[in-house]
Amino acid sequence: MMLIRLTYFSYNRLNDWYASKDRGVAEILATSVANNLRDCITGALICHDRWFVQELEGAEDKVSAAFERILRDQRHRDVSLVTMQAVSARRFPNFAMACLLPHEDNCDLFRHYGEDEIFDPRKMRADRLSDLIEAMADRGTTGGQAWMKKPAMNAA
Ligand SMILES: Cc1cc2nc3c(=O)[nH]c(=O)nc-3n(C[C@H](O)[C@H](O)[C@H](O)COP(=O)(O)O)c2cc1C
Repeated sequence: MMLIRLTYFSYNRLNDWYASKDRGVAEILATSVANNLRDCITGALICHDRWFVQELEGAEDKVSAAFERILRDQRHRDVSLVTMQAVSARRFPNFAMACLLPHEDNCDLFRHYGEDEIFDPRKMRADRLSDLIEAMADRGTTGGQAWMKKPAMNAA
């Protein structure tokens, strides 16, 4: 199986659909985890107030199919594909979709990798965006619900 890693960012529209953003994030994650476990996709999603940044990794056909669904989703807009590349190993083998929320313990990372006070993925190089996701994951995923942390089955 050819392992693919796809990275994109998009503009968060949860405010247009949900009274509470937390509710929106929880719904997205519930669907994502269920589908990704089924499709052996792993990855991480930064849920910033204004932006989503997501990495999906898995078999090419499964990742492409998930991305096509994601592109059509009205809960975000202006989805920009950053990279889609073959990789030799998964970066998030234990997460069907890790949820990375900005908080006081990791907000320095947005400044460090974004090189700006205001986080704007449009201004970032692809490798810096990827490094930001990895650094946030290293600081720990947030949310705490067990279903977010369920490991992917049969992950390569
Ligand atoms: C920011 C964002 C990230 C998402 N990530 C995933 C994902 O990793 N996997 C997935 O299957 N759906 C993801 N979704 C949801 C899809 O857009 C779509 O609603 C879902 O795949 C439909 O699944 P269903 O056909 O089982 O209802 C995401 C949506 C958003 C807005």
